[in-house]
Amino acid sequence: MDYLKIKGTKALGGTIDISGAKNASLPLIAMTILAKNKVNISNLPHVVDIKTLLKLLANLGAHCTFLDDKTIVDTSSITNTKATYDIVKTMRASILVLGPILARFGHCEVSLPGGCAIGQRPIDLHLKALEQMGARIEIRAGYIEATAPNGLQGGEIIFDKITVTGTANVVMAAALAHGETTIINAAREPEVVQLCEVLQNSGIEIEGIGTAVLKIQGTAGELIDIKDFSIIPDRIEAGTYLCAGAITKSTLTLTNVEAKHLGAVLAKLEEMGNSFTITDTTITIHPAKIIKPVRIVTQEYPAFPTDMQAQFMALATQADGVSIIEEKLFENRFMHVSELQRMGADITLNGHTATVNGVTQLSGTDVMATDLRASSALVLAGLIAEGETNVHRIYHLDRGYDALEKKLQEVGADIQRLKE
Ligand code: UD1
Repeated sequence: MDYLKIKGTKALGGTIDISGAKNASLPLIAMTILAKNKVNISNLPHVVDIKTLLKLLANLGAHCTFLDDKTIVDTSSITNTKATYDIVKTMRASILVLGPILARFGHCEVSLPGGCAIGQRPIDLHLKALEQMGARIEIRAGYIEATAPNGLQGGEIIFDKITVTGTANVVMAAALAHGETTIINAAREPEVVQLCEVLQNSGIEIEGIGTAVLKIQGTAGELIDIKDFSIIPDRIEAGTYLCAGAITKSTLTLTNVEAKHLGAVLAKLEEMGNSFTITDTTITIHPAKIIKPVRIVTQEYPAFPTDMQAQFMALATQADGVSIIEEKLFENRFMHVSELQRMGADITLNGHTATVNGVTQLSGTDVMATDLRASSALVLAGLIAEGETNVHRIYHLDRGYDALEKKLQEVGADIQRLKE
């Protein structure tokens, strides 16, 4: 197993190129199940979650070809409609194949995803919505068995709670359904917007893109001629490197980034005393000399993302005062707290709220990554800790960060990937 060894307290400087967004790539890869043609996708990030989903599609019978600058997915050869436990257990987002397989084949089996470090993460809203579209769903022997022999029917879906992958699943199912589907309380994340835009560019009528009410006209089962597309930049990767600039008090420029997707993150970094130079595709962070404390509440987009909570907690350990961080989306997303405490951070947890007493000099030690974004928070802490930090179990990090140690090395960090 690999781990990262970081020698902290080095100033950084230079440019980091941002990869394609993992969370945009996953639904868009699942969407290729709806295609009548071979689909050309560019700017997919080189991360394990993407490989996992492409492997899942290959198990169903699809062919995936990797070229330097694009990936070609051909789902015309799919014959199998069962997503098995061995893959689904490694990545909850595998649930994204449920809507498209069911819509195309009228039947589908997907393993229940099982537990998850950051909380329960149920999929009841996905299932209820598909049932409202006429699917019959049974849970048997750990599998979701869904059928819709006469195809899915459009209708009105009201999500009780905003769900990102739930919205994506229903959008994909609706694209092939009979009639119009209205989704009320839809997720507005840029990744959901890109899914809708790619479908729209490929001939599906969708109204309300980027709003909480989506109206989708289905093709009544006819497969879609999906146009080529390029994945949007990863706003969470970008946010993480902005935190790297802020925590190490270094000027860093990010390229291939969309500042408009980072509104809440940039606003909080500004409140903490950082400033920015922004162009159409770049963001340069000019770090605060003294980092100010902050109050953060994680919520659905366009509010502050839960996927940036852990990184901001690492940053808050260096703020001059007390920061309050409230996690509203996932009940157990504070696993990084005990690891940061082991490095010397002064953090008190009370239910869903963490109080971070700032400006403690962190010390390097052995720490364990517990989930994807918690891992990057430990890397950020390692960058400013005295001595050596060894971040173990970085398979979590590899699920979602493309070449993290290489990108950080290129801006001057002393970080190496080693074998246990
Ligand atoms: C997606 C992102 C993940 C991010 C999360 C919240 C992908 C691949 N993953 O995850 O990085 O942290 O959005 O922004 O895009 N819920 C239910 N029932 C359901 C579905 C969700 O109760 O059927 C709850 C969840 O437990 C959670 C909330 O709704 O409390 C939001 O979850 P959701 O938006 O579905 O997260 P994911 O789509 O899994």
